[in-house]
Amino acid sequence: MTRYAVAGTSEIGPGQRKIVEIEGRPVGVLNVDGEYFALLDRCPHAGAPLCGHGTIFGVSTAAQPDGPIEYEGGRSLRCPWHAWEFDVRTGVSFYDPRNARVRRYPVEVVAGAPDDVVEPDGGRQEGPLVLEGYEVAVEGDMLVVDTARRRPGRTAVPPRPADEPVDVVAVVAAKRAAAAGVAVVELRSRDGTPMPAWTPGAHLEVTLTDDLVRHYSLCGAPDDRSTWRIGVLREQRGRGGSAYVHDTLQVGDEIRCHGPRNNFALEKAREYVFLAGGIGITPILPMIAECEASGQPWRLVYGGRSRSSMAFLEEVEAYGDRVTIWPHDERGHLDLPAALGEPRDGVAVYCCGPGPLIDAVEGQCAPWPAGTLHVERFRPADGALDGPDTAFEVVCDRSDLVVGVPEGRSVVDALADAGVHVPTSCREGTCGTCETVVLDGVPDHRDSFLSPSERASNEVMTPCCSRSHGPRLVLDL
Ligand code: FES
Repeated sequence: MTRYAVAGTSEIGPGQRKIVEIEGRPVGVLNVDGEYFALLDRCPHAGAPLCGHGTIFGVSTAAQPDGPIEYEGGRSLRCPWHAWEFDVRTGVSFYDPRNARVRRYPVEVVAGAPDDVVEPDGGRQEGPLVLEGYEVAVEGDMLVVDTARRRPGRTAVPPRPADEPVDVVAVVAAKRAAAAGVAVVELRSRDGTPMPAWTPGAHLEVTLTDDLVRHYSLCGAPDDRSTWRIGVLREQRGRGGSAYVHDTLQVGDEIRCHGPRNNFALEKAREYVFLAGGIGITPILPMIAECEASGQPWRLVYGGRSRSSMAFLEEVEAYGDRVTIWPHDERGHLDLPAALGEPRDGVAVYCCGPGPLIDAVEGQCAPWPAGTLHVERFRPADGALDGPDTAFEVVCDRSDLVVGVPEGRSVVDALADAGVHVPTSCREGTCGTCETVVLDGVPDHRDSFLSPSERASNEVMTPCCSRSHGPRLVLDL
């Protein structure tokens, strides 16, 4: 089922908009001068809500410097957070990060019309980001959104350079123990300028050393732009990242951060149930703060080995009886049926923590409406990355390229060799950064990010780790 009646035409008059939830995703339906558009309500720049308060504005263009100016009203949507602009008709950004530097040119006033003057190329340029959009039809007096005709949100239109610049060099402003084996690190900019904005659920890619790149959820307050806060659990069998944070990283050190990126954003719901296990509390903290601030009904069940190992206990206990603390050494395993209750509509369940907890919650939520459960895994599910490693070919539909993916090489690496850059972060199927639309073929899904219905639809895949069941995949790249 991919067509959704989202509103009566009378509900969204000219200039009005409505945010609806489709397949667990917030979608903004906009009436721009009597024409309807539907766009994913999430800015691909930083994941912030875009459609509810974004400004619709017109665009003036001229074919040449002294040519007639043409004005097209209602053409663009500007994100209220960082003013990124998107064409409401195509979702294409008008912001091109590769050419965002302002260059100065000498200006002179000359008489007459010199014949050695050439017209500048370009003008307003399309950027590489494309906002996810949907087809909207008016059927009788109902608006119908067709998700089968979805455009990609996070894939590149033209190939991007693989070496995109690092966003922020941050200074470690404070570091303290928050529980047994958990360090809390506060980061600030070097020059005291505000840190980039973020939304609950966002994470950072942190380059600790040249060969230690790790991802950490932001767990502070989004409206405190002076600091980013992360919580890091010492992994007893880790690969060195958490040990570096605990043992080597000092106040005053500088680290490179890329992001924030949000693949675990808080979707609209009537009621929220949060389930956190251990360090999985970190992305949940700003979520419950936002629900509390906006008056949304919510509950949190927070489990851990023992109270001494559970970070931010004081912070969450301050919310009172909305929070249930569940130390394993006192209460045993989490009582998920009691925490979740009966399957019902309008609930968003957010779960973050160890794999076995997420597996159990996925099982418990199987009978719930599709799109109810949102999970963030720190590691791939057991066995998710296993499978035959055969060669196949990928057709990049928009780039008009055919790329061979040999045995032992990932799709994103093979594409990068051919000059097609797909943004990646975890590269093991847990973060969703590389999610790409599949136009034809059957992916061999090996991620731990897509929902069961997304996986079954075969409309999207994560090419950092997933492969193909057949000899050929056609991707919207
Ligand atoms: S890069 Fe994280 S899922 Fe592909």
